[in-house]
Amino acid sequence: MNTISLLLQTIIHDLFDVEQTVRLSRPDVQFGDYATNVAMQLAKPLGKNPREIAEQLAEKLRESGAFTDVTIAGPGFINLRVAAKNLAAQLQADWTASYGETTDGAGKTVVVEYPSQNMAKPYSIGHLRTGNQGWAVKRLMEATGWTVITDNHLGDYGAPFGTWVVGFLKFSSDEQLAEGGVYELGRVYIATKKALKDEKEQGSHELADQVQDWLLRLERGDEQAVDYSRRFNEISLKHIHDIMNRLKITTDHELGEAFFAPKGKDAVKKLLETGVATQNDDGSIIVSLEEYGFDVPLLVQKSNGAALYATTDLATILYREETWHPDKVIYAVGMEQQFYFTQLFAMAKKLGITTELVHLWFGMIDQINEDGTREKMSSRKGVVLMEELLDTAEQKAREVVAGRDVSEDDIKKIALGAIKFSDFTADRRTNILFDWDTIFALTGFSGPYIQYASVRVNKLLADTANVDSAYSDSYDYEAEKAVFAKLLEYPQVVTLAARDLEPHKVATYLYELAREMNRYYETTRVSDAEPLEKTARRDVLSKVSQVFTHGLGLLGIEIPSQM
Ligand code: ARG
Repeated sequence: MNTISLLLQTIIHDLFDVEQTVRLSRPDVQFGDYATNVAMQLAKPLGKNPREIAEQLAEKLRESGAFTDVTIAGPGFINLRVAAKNLAAQLQADWTASYGETTDGAGKTVVVEYPSQNMAKPYSIGHLRTGNQGWAVKRLMEATGWTVITDNHLGDYGAPFGTWVVGFLKFSSDEQLAEGGVYELGRVYIATKKALKDEKEQGSHELADQVQDWLLRLERGDEQAVDYSRRFNEISLKHIHDIMNRLKITTDHELGEAFFAPKGKDAVKKLLETGVATQNDDGSIIVSLEEYGFDVPLLVQKSNGAALYATTDLATILYREETWHPDKVIYAVGMEQQFYFTQLFAMAKKLGITTELVHLWFGMIDQINEDGTREKMSSRKGVVLMEELLDTAEQKAREVVAGRDVSEDDIKKIALGAIKFSDFTADRRTNILFDWDTIFALTGFSGPYIQYASVRVNKLLADTANVDSAYSDSYDYEAEKAVFAKLLEYPQVVTLAARDLEPHKVATYLYELAREMNRYYETTRVSDAEPLEKTARRDVLSKVSQVFTHGLGLLGIEIPSQM
C-alpha cells in the first residue's frame, strides 16, 4: 500500500513538480483494490481539470507495470487493481518477526499513568477503562519504539485515611476487618461518609474534626496513626494487586499521592517565593491561570495548610521531569476530570515545562435498564465491583464453551478478551454500552469472535504441522488476495493508533481481518490442497496468526489454545 502511495507521489512530483501526500482507500471490489482522489486534490493548486490530471497520472501508472488495471471514474477517481502475486511479494518483502512495529519513537521516553485507583474503596468498574486504555497505549507506544515507563498513581492520600480510622473505631472491629478485608474498609468508608454528611446537616462537626485530627497525626508521624495507615493500606493494596493480576496489567512504579504530598508542599512554597503562586487572606494558596484563559485559579494548598489533589499532581509533574526526563506523559483518567487536567497542564506551562502532557480521557460505561433507559452501569448494591464483574465474565465464558474441552486458563482468557475488547469497540471518548450478550457474541464485533478466528487458524496450522510453510513466487495467490491486502494495512494501523492514542483502531482492524480470514477459511482448502498451494497457504496462515497474536496483544488480550 505504502509502495503504491510512494509511486504516485513520485509520479506527481515528476509530472507537476509538487509534493503531495497520497492517501489510498479501499473501494468496492468491483472497482479495484485501491483508489485515490488525489487528482481532485491537485486540481485547485495546479489550476487544472481533475479529470485531465487523472488521465495523466493513469498513463504513468499503467507504464509502471505494477497494476493489472487502472481506470478513472467520476470526476477523477483513480481505481487501481493489482495482481494478488504483487501483494504477496510486497508482504514478503515487508515481513519481519515484529511485523507492524516501527521505530518512530526511538530515543524518546513516555510515561503512561494508569489505573490509579483509590485505596479507600474496593476496585470497581469505575477503574476498568483506565487500566484497559492505559495498558493498550503502553503497548502501542512500545510497538512504535518509545521507551515506556508506567506508573500507578494511587489515590492513597488525604481524607480517606482519616475517614477510615474514625469509621473503623465507630463502626467496625478487628474481627470484622480480618473477615471482610477491603470490602469492610469500603463499607466503613461509605458509612462514615454518610455519618459525616448527616452531622453536617445537623450543624455539628465532631466527626469531621476527628477526621482532620487523624490526618494531622499521620502527617506528624504519630505512631498509632502510622500503624493504622500501614494496616489499612496493606489490605487495600493487596486487593488492588490481586485485581491487577487478574486483569493481567502491571506498572513499573506505584508512586501514589501520599508519596507526593510532602514534596508538593515544598513545591508550593517555591511557587510562592517566585511569585507564580499567591496566598489568599485565609491562607490558601492559588495559581492564577488567567493568561491561559481560565477564570478560576488552581487551588494548590488549603487554608489549613493541607495538600490537595493539585498539590500532589504538581509534585508528580516535577518528579517525573527530574527523574525520567520524559518527552510525553499520558494520564489515563476518565472524562470527569477533563477540566482539572486542562488547568493542571496550564499550570505546568506556566512553570516552563514543555513536556507534552496528555489527558487520555474516555467515556463512561453505560448499561440499558430493564425499562429500556440508558445510564451509568451499576448493580443493585451500587457500584459494580471488579471481582464481581470478572467472576460473572468467567461464568459467561464457561457457558460459551460449554461441552467443549476448554481449560480454566483458556476460560479466563476468553472472559478477559470479552471485557477488554468491549472497551475498544468505539473511539475511547464515547460512552460504551456494556451488554453481556454483545461482548460475548461469537458472530459480532467482540473479543471472543476474534479469539475464535485466531484459534481456528492456529488449529489449522497445528493440523498441518508436517507441511512446510513458505512463500512461493510460482503460486498465484488469487485466493488470498483479500487477506494479503488486509495484512498489508497492519503497520499503518499500528502507527495511526499510536499517533492518535486510539487502540480502538487496532480493534476495528482485527475485526476486519477476522472477517476476511473466516471468508478465506470457508472457501479455500488447505489440508487437502496441492503441495505447492498447501505450502504457500500455510505460510499465509502463519502470517495471519502472527498478526492476530500481535494485535490482540496490543489490546492486552491473549489467544486461548482451545475454545
Ligand atoms: N485516583 C484518581 C481517581 O481515581 C485518578 C488519579 C489520576 N492521576 C493524576 N495524576 N491525578 O479519580
